[in-house]
Amino acid sequence: MKRSILITLVIAAALSCTACGTIVEGTEPSRRKFPTEATNETAEATDLTTEAYQEESEEITTEETTTEEETTTEDAVAAGGEAPTEDIIKTEAPSPEDPDYAPVPAKYEREGITYIGDTLIANKTYSLPADFAPGLDKTCENQFYKMTQDAAKRGLYIYFASGFRSYDYQAQIYNNYVARDGQALADTYSARPGYSEHQSGLAIDVNSIDDSFSITPEAKWLADHCHEYGFILRYPQGKENITGYQYESWHVRYVGTDLSYAIYNSGLTLEEYFKINSQYEE
Ligand code: DAL
Ligand code: ZN
Repeated sequence: MKRSILITLVIAAALSCTACGTIVEGTEPSRRKFPTEATNETAEATDLTTEAYQEESEEITTEETTTEEETTTEDAVAAGGEAPTEDIIKTEAPSPEDPDYAPVPAKYEREGITYIGDTLIANKTYSLPADFAPGLDKTCENQFYKMTQDAAKRGLYIYFASGFRSYDYQAQIYNNYVARDGQALADTYSARPGYSEHQSGLAIDVNSIDDSFSITPEAKWLADHCHEYGFILRYPQGKENITGYQYESWHVRYVGTDLSYAIYNSGLTLEEYFKINSQYEE
């Protein structure tokens, strides 16, 4: 009798645990590794999608990994071979330190512009032709407005301040800064004509273009969420020697969501991620 009560209790406990789902209190959701399909509907929707996506993808990843490992081992052994060694089987996603984390796609030049994979590169090493004047990229513009709308739903006011700049306009801006601060200092915060990402039509400055923006809630939200819309914060704090520019909390670069998530999750700059330099030849 006692034994049957105990069994009943055990079964009831198991069923109620199944019903309560897989969320374990006190655990922190891991950072997203891939874009969701519905990233840009609303901020709330994005968060919900993210959690659902994480749970689902974690389960799928675990299942797939386990199945793959078992099949590979069994197949190898059944075929008379040796079981694969541990360094062949990868059961975990590579970390940023792992050389396989982000295989760098081919770098090539087309019509005087450098690309890595599909990504246009504009920095102190890789310049753009003076007559390259595409205007603001349409996808970049649309994604920017989706982002500002989602920010507005949270009471945050992010607005467009500067986008596409022609070679000549960049020359004017840069020369004014050189006249004011001297070339050495100007080079730390303003690109020489032909070297600005703004000339690519893929960069946008928001709000007030100075350090006062960095302490606003808008700046924090932008840094935490712009990758959801395909942007990266291009000149982060502490990476001045790598990007070649002072920290710019207001400058975002559109790279598309595949790359923006990968870069955001890696914690690297575009230069580090693609293993390239940003230095003038001089
Ligand atoms: N302020 C950035 C570096 C530019 O001038 O493009
Ligand atoms: Zn900028």
